[in-house]
Amino acid sequence: MTENTPKKSVTIGGPGSNAAFPVLSGTVGPDVIDIRKLYGETGLFTYDPGFTSTAACRSKITYIDGDEGILLHRGYRIEDLAEHSSFLETAYLILFGELPTADEYSNFMSGVTYHTMIHDQINYLYRGFRRDAHPMAVMVAVVGALSAFYHEDLDTNDPHHRLIASYRLVAKIPTIAAMAYKYSVGQPFMYPRNDLSYPENFLYMMFGVPCEPWQEKPTLSKALEKIFILHADHEQNASTSTVRLVGSTGASPYAAISAGIASLWGPAHGGANEAVVNMLGEIGSVERIPEFIARAKDKDDPFRLMGFGHRVYKNYDPRAGVLKSSADEVLEELGKGDNPKLAIARELERIALEDDYFRDRKLFPNVDFYSGIILEAMGIPTKMFTAIFALARTVGWMAQWNEMMEDPEQKIGRPRQLYTGAAQRPYVAIDKRR
Ligand code: SDX
Repeated sequence: MTENTPKKSVTIGGPGSNAAFPVLSGTVGPDVIDIRKLYGETGLFTYDPGFTSTAACRSKITYIDGDEGILLHRGYRIEDLAEHSSFLETAYLILFGELPTADEYSNFMSGVTYHTMIHDQINYLYRGFRRDAHPMAVMVAVVGALSAFYHEDLDTNDPHHRLIASYRLVAKIPTIAAMAYKYSVGQPFMYPRNDLSYPENFLYMMFGVPCEPWQEKPTLSKALEKIFILHADHEQNASTSTVRLVGSTGASPYAAISAGIASLWGPAHGGANEAVVNMLGEIGSVERIPEFIARAKDKDDPFRLMGFGHRVYKNYDPRAGVLKSSADEVLEELGKGDNPKLAIARELERIALEDDYFRDRKLFPNVDFYSGIILEAMGIPTKMFTAIFALARTVGWMAQWNEMMEDPEQKIGRPRQLYTGAAQRPYVAIDKRR
């Protein structure tokens, strides 16, 4: 049985006629009804705002079982990768489909290491921003601008060109993100160092200064490595779907990733990690938690419990589980185990998970609930939290973009609609209008 051999069919009736549509099966997960011929054979569209029940593509990269709280990258559990792998090894797995041999890993690391610098002209792009510009706005602009630097010789239909673009973006995104931070604090940009690991190099570019030698920070780089791994890819989420849709027109991958960064920035998506820490600060004390729980349940109050709920997970987000346990470890190692925000987060989670409103709606902590607490304890400024999410997710976006470009079934993305506007009507001259 292959993924193309339908095992059964579903009959749908419409204005045209009844028609049978094949049901396709993947390796694991829900079967899908192949409705590509639905409109042609029945005159019907499907209606699925937010794509809650729609598979937009075939993919081999990431599998999520939302009910069981399972996340696999190319078949490997996220818990195992977070425990045993490095970010660049996980990046290789996500990009190429297999864990690398020692030689493959060494070649991949040097390929990334020797592409971390950016064209010196790009430094001038930062100068156009106010110093208080949000790093995500800066990253949208600078990554998008890479499409101007790598446009002429880029043929997105050439697999080798796509490979080069993948290396470039995975390699340069930490440099671009760190430069956004340095610019915001008025410090000189720190050029990447080829002798440091991927996470250590990012810390160096963020916190290093030209006037003194860098003291490596193993606790911080180990915690950051885990955070990068946990954010690397996540199936067809909003920002990944954005990258695929932009890429489906044949647009530059740099423009597509810039669009993905813009999509991730939203507080309902990757911007939630920043929103969680701001929310915990606003709650301020364990005693005020009930007030905010009530607000989260109040339909007339737009407030939502940031870091809770998920479109797919109707169980505990496995990434949140890893971060919850590493939060204790990292904060203790940093001497910040008594962080009041961690105490509020723990009590907030306990109360929410006992409350029927959250239990009935299967609202559990997601990846953003604990990540911000760890990043804040590491001294990362709140405004950089989503930039770090984007940094890590860039490899997932590139893998998904490559998969879309290689997919023989892929077409330009162009959804339809249910039109509820005015029926056709004649134009009325302005002096005849009431
Ligand atoms: C990420 O998709 C991905 O994979 C994303 C991500 C990734 O790695 O790429 O996992 C990263 O984006 C994680 C999510 C981060 N966002 C937040 O933490 C923001 C807070 N969460 C919500 O905004 C919300 O839960 C979403 C956006 C995450 C999911 O929203 P859905 O699936 O559209 O669910 P919904 O809005 O239809 O909510 C269902 C019900 C509603 O109540 P009823 O109308 O049924 O009475 O649950 C309620 C919602 O009001 N609800 C919440 C809530 N989330 C949903 N109520 C209070 N607080 C919340 N956080």
